[in-house]
Amino acid sequence: MAQPKYSTHLGMVDILPDEIRKWQFLENLIREEAHKFNFEEIRTPIMEQTELIVRGLGQLTDIVSKEIFAFSRGDDNYVLRPELTAPVVRAYVENHLDQRGGSQKLYYIGPMFRAERPQKGRQRQFHQFGVEVIGSSDAVSDVEVIAFMIHIYHKIGITNTTLKLNSIGDPDSREAYKDALRTYLKPNYEKLSEISKKRFEKNPLRILDSKEEEDQPLIENAPLITDYLNEESVSHYSRVKEYLTDLGISFEEDPYLVRGMDYYTQTAFELISPDLGAQDALAGGGRYDLLIEEIGGQPTPAVGFAAGIERLFIACEELGIDLGGEKEVDVYIVTLGDHARRWGLKQLPKLREKGVSATMDYMGRSMKAQMKDANRENARYAIIVGENELNEGKFTFRDMKESKEEALSFEEISNLLAEQSA
Ligand code: HAM
Repeated sequence: MAQPKYSTHLGMVDILPDEIRKWQFLENLIREEAHKFNFEEIRTPIMEQTELIVRGLGQLTDIVSKEIFAFSRGDDNYVLRPELTAPVVRAYVENHLDQRGGSQKLYYIGPMFRAERPQKGRQRQFHQFGVEVIGSSDAVSDVEVIAFMIHIYHKIGITNTTLKLNSIGDPDSREAYKDALRTYLKPNYEKLSEISKKRFEKNPLRILDSKEEEDQPLIENAPLITDYLNEESVSHYSRVKEYLTDLGISFEEDPYLVRGMDYYTQTAFELISPDLGAQDALAGGGRYDLLIEEIGGQPTPAVGFAAGIERLFIACEELGIDLGGEKEVDVYIVTLGDHARRWGLKQLPKLREKGVSATMDYMGRSMKAQMKDANRENARYAIIVGENELNEGKFTFRDMKESKEEALSFEEISNLLAEQSA
């Protein structure tokens, strides 16, 4: 085959018709289940102002410092959204969603962009589904968010997962912890990676999230944030753990889990799968009680998660879970001659009107080739029609699976098909 002249950008892939069924299946499932949790969908633009993402996620995070797709138009600087928490919060503030009353329970499904080095489970354009609950500081909202996340994986049959949980405390607790971290790291400052050195003063918490090899031994023995939580933070964390236990959701506490964005406060969590390899995080999230104010809104508590859709599919593959099923169409009208072809074309809308999926040949092929095509299209039935059938008003109705045929009127056929697909 000739080498194609054009290709997708590195780390970005086409989702082709043979794969689309699993996407549609998952998206439908997410929508149905989100509805049961009373979450409403929100859709925001693919581009956001650079300033929002920098402020929202933090200047020193990997995403902002290394992975952003940025461009400008005139004086305006934009990025392709690397995640949706900051954009959803921007939409909440900009559109005064607080005025709708209560907490806003929002969900989303869509593409995100991060210029990471592509590998299995890591792409430059990838897809997330997620939830943001804005307006509640109650641990009930943390736990509902986590419950929804796990619920989706369970519905699909991915149950072999570990929920990692931590609290990174409120700002006071975190300041105390940052001081402790600096004191601990200072004697080994020279051993830190370049990026961690940069983070030492402004945001030493980020060092715990470092992937650099030289940082790992230092991270392993670092003080634990859980030892620096103040009373309020301890109390919130305890409630989250109790409510999770009430729901029978097991978790593993991981005092080094700090997550990759600066907006987190209090609860932080990740859902890990042993079926994913190196990129083992299926989903992650947490509380971000300061972000709304940070980007210009009123102080408003919030919590959410996002899940990687491609990683969910990798886990499905490893576990032999087939989400999409096979392509199929209810009926294929096989025609012989122009007269029959025009008749067939007119019957298609009548069948579709009854909820039956129906197709016919678009290529002027022989009857034999059309039967072959009906098989390839995985048609459940075929209606075979030529001049004689048209004259007699009886058509060959073929069950493609059972290889059985009978002669029926079009009305009988369409009623049968409608019953089947009801
Ligand atoms: P995150 O941990 O950066 O969190 O991303 C969530 C999930 O997206 C990851 O666990 C992973 O499954 C998937 N993911 C991230 N990067 C890639 C990539 N390059 N390729 C494939 N999958 C990827 C967030 O995005 C936060 N906004 C979550 C959140 C919502 N926190 C509060 N609310």
